[in-house]
Amino acid sequence: MAQTEVKALNPIKAPSVQNRVSEEEIDETVRVARESPGYAIGIPGGPEGEAFEKTFIEMMGCTDAVSVNSGSSALELAANLTGLGPGDEVILPAHTFVATAVPFARTGAKMIWADIDPDTRVVSADSIRSLVTDRTRAIIAVHLYGLPAEMDDIVEIARGCDIRVVEDCAQAPGAEYRGRRIGTIGDFGCFSFHAAKNITTLGEGGMLAVRDAEHGTQARRMRWMGNWVFEMKREKDWVPAGGNLVEPAPGRWPGNYCLAEALAAVGRKALGRLDAINEQRRHQAQRFMGGLSEFPELSFQHVPDHCRHVYHLMSARYDGEAFGCHRDALMTLMREKYNVQAIVQYWPLYRSELFRKFGFTEANVPETDRFFDNMISFPWWSDMSDELLDDMAERTRDALTELRG
Ligand SMILES: Cc1ncc(COP(=O)(O)O)c(C=O)c1O
Repeated sequence: MAQTEVKALNPIKAPSVQNRVSEEEIDETVRVARESPGYAIGIPGGPEGEAFEKTFIEMMGCTDAVSVNSGSSALELAANLTGLGPGDEVILPAHTFVATAVPFARTGAKMIWADIDPDTRVVSADSIRSLVTDRTRAIIAVHLYGLPAEMDDIVEIARGCDIRVVEDCAQAPGAEYRGRRIGTIGDFGCFSFHAAKNITTLGEGGMLAVRDAEHGTQARRMRWMGNWVFEMKREKDWVPAGGNLVEPAPGRWPGNYCLAEALAAVGRKALGRLDAINEQRRHQAQRFMGGLSEFPELSFQHVPDHCRHVYHLMSARYDGEAFGCHRDALMTLMREKYNVQAIVQYWPLYRSELFRKFGFTEANVPETDRFFDNMISFPWWSDMSDELLDDMAERTRDALTELRG
């Protein structure tokens, strides 16, 4: 690409909403605003929230699902329902978004950092296995960037032990592992419908999928400060009081994790588009990665045959040693010359100030470090046109060719 053309390049930059809500979904917010008997969910749940949960259960194939106001809230509920506390250990990847870890760290349990697989770049079952002790009470499998972790092996590690398996599905709604939707294989599946996700409930939202029906009941009790129905028969609805207050799960305080009714209505409609959105993202990925197949120094996530990736993000590793180049040289070229606003993520948690301050600095995760120190995450969202993808691939090819010298 000639220098004069380079100056004219339009920026390629991800929007903060990676997948806008549809007109039909917008209509739902108006309908609920006009017709809802109560905009909030109430006890045990409002009609829109219940309809969202029912559609989710049917689509994913889980025992029960509880709508919540964020993916972090779903993880918070899972951490509480797992019954964790000081003295317990939780095994989770160091390479993930911070929200995977904070709800578990808050319980007082110890964070034990697992490594990623160098090819798939999601948490490695071998690494998890090597970290299990008699204090391990939970394993968090994160389906990072949209690719399922090796769930059969992870569930097998927990089998027969008092260990819960939590799936962080925030980046992978609708992804499949051996024909099963992720989030239905472990004990808990935690989904996010934040604005940056493959589908959004207009900015914030989430879902907790559970395998054990009792966990569904406990999560609903926990969702709105322990407000619950009276089990006993009451003659007068004000005796002894308008509503009951219960302990949601043994020794656990409740919180407010409720998703507003209008957002639940958006979510139910959005689920109808999820598979098509994911299919389009797979198409985008094939197109973009296909345009870079002549450059093995830039490698993408390996996708095992039994996994269906939903390409929430487009991450790659640049191994430029043969050309005397490091990832930062590629990032600089991409940003400053080719105007592609790629980023680097996710800061290995044990290296972050937050987790260092709380003392979780110990980790032996060489693949995490190697990936993070050499990774590049391309601008990525739903409905990228073929033209744009070809353009981004061409700019990347030009940068890589330049670095080859
Ligand atoms: C891997 C992962 N886990 C958890 C979350 C938390 O979701 P939320 O932002 O809805 O709280 C996110 C995204 O934000 C995420 O990417």
